[in-house]
Amino acid sequence: MLDRVKQNFLNDIEKSKDLKTLENIYKKYLGRKGELTKILRSLKDLSEKERKEKGKLANNLRQEIEEVIKAKSKKFFIKSRHVSVMQKNWIDVTAPGKLPAQGHLHPITLVQQEIEEIFQSMGFSIINGPEVETEHYNFDALNVPKNHPARDLWDTFWLKDIDLLLRTHTSPMQARYMEKNNPPLRIIVPGRCFRHEATDASHETTFHQIEGLMIGQNISMANLKGVLEGFMKRFYGPQVKLRWQPSYFPFTEPGLELLMGCSVCGGKGCSTCGQSGWMEVIPCGMVHPNVFKSAGYVLERWQGFAFGMGLDRIAMMKHKIDDIRLFYSNDLRFLNQF
Ligand code: DAH
Repeated sequence: MLDRVKQNFLNDIEKSKDLKTLENIYKKYLGRKGELTKILRSLKDLSEKERKEKGKLANNLRQEIEEVIKAKSKKFFIKSRHVSVMQKNWIDVTAPGKLPAQGHLHPITLVQQEIEEIFQSMGFSIINGPEVETEHYNFDALNVPKNHPARDLWDTFWLKDIDLLLRTHTSPMQARYMEKNNPPLRIIVPGRCFRHEATDASHETTFHQIEGLMIGQNISMANLKGVLEGFMKRFYGPQVKLRWQPSYFPFTEPGLELLMGCSVCGGKGCSTCGQSGWMEVIPCGMVHPNVFKSAGYVLERWQGFAFGMGLDRIAMMKHKIDDIRLFYSNDLRFLNQF
């Protein structure tokens, strides 16, 4: 009887293939109604002699079954764990790699760097100035005294209680630099500017300018035209259409404006250029004697020109962008194009 049970068990074990079947085998022999359990229970009905003999054999078999199942289940467990780990962490070493998403510089920064390079090649140094300015440098030193109507040209963010403001243009660096440095000089000043304005397709409260200043003993309007037209042709290509028109700035005499054919409409007229086909891109002029005076320069000796181009506009014309607000909206569909 026990021999048959043992033989059956060994056959079953032979065929087992996973933890589940092992569990069933255990139940079949040692579960509550298991074959061997039944035999063990029936021992009590035997005579003492028989019980001793058969009991020993039956208990040996029970031990053997338990050991075999234990050893086998350990094997199955390791194997099944191995398989599941392999499935979860499976790596296809032949799959093509995925490039990590990489950021890049903002289009305004890229355009700024390109402009800086062109002016550096013409001997200009790059200077930076403070975004929080005093009334003195932003206005007075630039020939825009208090109560002068020209102050209305710049809607200003004033800082509370003190004589400070957010610079409305990069021109204050002209005054600051002239105070500390003697001519001849050639500088450009890139930077962020701020105006208390309603925003639309061509106005933002925050925008960028690049100021320029060139002072020497024989600097004339010919130099101004040569430098700025040269810059425009290098930046936009030799085919760029240019036009000059007179303008007014308190810190220049005379004041000028360099215009280019609008790239958004190709000169036909659109909402970006106010239907004129032309965009004003570089306000400029010969430095006003009063600006030299506040810097302490000897008037008879020095002449120079200055300009303050709107970087955002320059970038809009370069990439045919019709709304300045796109630069500041952080829309990746826009930014990823650069
Ligand atoms: N600062 C002027 C503005 O923001 C632009 C400007 C005009 C700058 C003429 C200059 C200049 O240096 O000479 O409106």
